[in-house]
Amino acid sequence: MIAKAYAKINIALKVLGKKPDGYHELDMVMVPVELHDSIEIVIAPPSCETVVTSDDHDLMTSEYNLCAVAVNKMRDFYKFEENFRIHIHKRIPMSAGLGGGSSDAAAVIRGIITLLKLKVTESDIIGVSRAIGSDVPFFYRQIPARVQGTGEILTPIKVQIPYYVLIVKPHEGLSTTDVFAKYDQMDNQSLKEIPPVIEALAHGDDEAVAETIFNQLEATSTSMCHAIAAIKRALKQDGLPIVLMSGSGTSVFALSMNRERLEISAKKLEKRGHRVLLTQLHV
Ligand code: C5P
Repeated sequence: MIAKAYAKINIALKVLGKKPDGYHELDMVMVPVELHDSIEIVIAPPSCETVVTSDDHDLMTSEYNLCAVAVNKMRDFYKFEENFRIHIHKRIPMSAGLGGGSSDAAAVIRGIITLLKLKVTESDIIGVSRAIGSDVPFFYRQIPARVQGTGEILTPIKVQIPYYVLIVKPHEGLSTTDVFAKYDQMDNQSLKEIPPVIEALAHGDDEAVAETIFNQLEATSTSMCHAIAAIKRALKQDGLPIVLMSGSGTSVFALSMNRERLEISAKKLEKRGHRVLLTQLHV
């Protein structure tokens, strides 16, 4: 079978504090986009190991690949014998704040459930997903949501406007671990809150979306990758008001219903050497 693993953007991200286990308690608005990896998954012949391959040679396909981790965590919980052949058609940029690796893992979970006809409960799957990575429970559902805790508390939200999304990824990437480590050394404050963002999206109020969105990791990531600020500036100069960094970066997105306007900006930023992807919210 082939499972679609959608990317996500963070339309808002608030850091509430650091927990004793080192993870940060977050409050976020996450929305899937049509841009996706395709995950081919079949049951391996008897006595064959699980193998993960990819058409992207930069992708690590060892047992540390999150798809392989997903097979092992599912096996630990559901005690099946089967192994799998998994092939990742990679389109989502990596180290970009778009959740590609976590989404691939969630696609493997959905694939295993279908192939083995497993009877699962939502709470068991949230637990297994969370053990793989913070964003995996969100990607298991793949619907617009407020995401709280360290990724395990999901509340579906309504998104009125199916915006086109221009994603701009500078050559440099950032690791989420590094961004949070640097974040802890910086003075970070945000007076902005999540509920006004949710309200603006539900009402389809463009101006309110532009005013309320925020990402509390942006200052930290920008201090580690200056291209983020330059891309934001360029998009705003092109008259795009809804512009933000996604996740821990380094990609920046602009939302608009004016596809032509996004195409013009995309061409300019591509000429500057950035990777550009034009997609749409998956709502
Ligand atoms: O859970 P995931 O593997 O995606 O997280 C990668 C790293 O990001 C963690 O090891 C941790 O350093 C940091 N992180 C965090 N708080 C979160 C999510 C991630 O500190 N809520």
